[in-house]
Amino acid sequence: MNILVTGGAGFIGGNFMHYMVNKYENDKIICVDKLTYCGNLETLAPISNRKNYKFIKADITDRNTIYQIFEENKIDIVVNFAAESHVDRSVENPEIFIITNVIGTQVLMDACRKYGIKRFHQVSTDEVYGDLPLDRVDLFFTENTPIRASSPYSASKASADLLVMSYYRTYQLPVSISRCSNNYGPYHFPEKLIPLMISRALHNEKLPVYGNGLNVRDWLYVEDHCTAIDLIIRNSKVGEIYNIGGHNEKTNIEVVKTILKILEKDESLIEYVKDRPGHDLRYAIDASKIEKDLNWKPKYTFDIGIKKTIEWYLNNKTWWEHILSGEYKNYFKKMYEKKYCSSNE
Ligand code: NAD
Ligand code: DAU
Repeated sequence: MNILVTGGAGFIGGNFMHYMVNKYENDKIICVDKLTYCGNLETLAPISNRKNYKFIKADITDRNTIYQIFEENKIDIVVNFAAESHVDRSVENPEIFIITNVIGTQVLMDACRKYGIKRFHQVSTDEVYGDLPLDRVDLFFTENTPIRASSPYSASKASADLLVMSYYRTYQLPVSISRCSNNYGPYHFPEKLIPLMISRALHNEKLPVYGNGLNVRDWLYVEDHCTAIDLIIRNSKVGEIYNIGGHNEKTNIEVVKTILKILEKDESLIEYVKDRPGHDLRYAIDASKIEKDLNWKPKYTFDIGIKKTIEWYLNNKTWWEHILSGEYKNYFKKMYEKKYCSSNE
């Protein structure tokens, strides 16, 4: 089979590329990625000389190029990870989120209709459900929870989900969607909470915690997300939506303190800063549908996953130090200057 993985040079897509190239020697795993600020060929370097691996630099919104890729590669399955993925950036500049996350998904599905495929899988997010109250720990997102996105990022992902289901109903395109909670693990771009805190703590820099640090996220080790998607594209019925999560709910401050403890760093590095506008309070996934239908279970608890992640960052400093030394410096200054200034007012 020829499997097209869009956004395969990013965090989750990159881990999925490694997983698939190593697991399915007889399938061809083709990565299409625009290599935006967070797409990184160094992530794919360990698998780049494998026979079943191919990389094509392309933008999923570029219809002609995408059609040409489908024509030349006889694609069986598409797994669409390609996206603008950072909530804070979507608050600053929503437009690129609509272009990539909505139009890009549409172009890919049009290509699927034109050339024919066995499955189009959309990698979505639990953020399409909005948030849950902090004082109702009995509530979880199910696949039937209404869409109620909060940020321009999650609204763009929710729009794409609606479009995917419309292509299923209208054109019978064989689609599936997964909505996963927060991932962490190797190759995570250091603008997101866990890699940002690890990389800054290792440099003894201040750790910016938004608001009071009590917002809750449900963390899943990235390899567990990869196994879930693999099961869905091979074994699920078409037209299905699956939530993915591992019941590892933590407040942000708990996560940051755990990282500091493992790194043997002082909690005085923590600095509370201005909150994210529209900040979602709590995410919590009910994953019983995928557990029951596809027999999926996460392998890693947060305690084990976070230690493995920190170990990876300690052993792969070149990967993230390259990122920190580039354009990222300007990003951090611009994004966090405002937060620090406002918190000191
Ligand atoms: P990421 O930002 O690390 O990677 C995104 C990748 O997409 C990059 O390699 C980038 O170069 C590529 N890309 C961006 N625009 C493109 C375009 N127009 N054409 C081709 N490639 C393009 O993102 P991630 O955290 O790995 O997330 C991957 C997917 O999973 C996203 O769709 C995201 O919404 C979803 N998701 C992420 C999480 C999470 O915790 N990170 C959780 C649930 C779902
Ligand atoms: O739930 C899935 C989503 O998880 C994905 O769809 C998104 O692509 C992914 O980025 C992630 O979104 P979050 O907004 O939850 O992740 P982020 O790492 O940006 O933030 C996690 C929490 O930590 C959130 O409550 C905000 C907080 N935070 C984040 C940063 C970057 C801080 O307190 N300080 C920070 O510097």
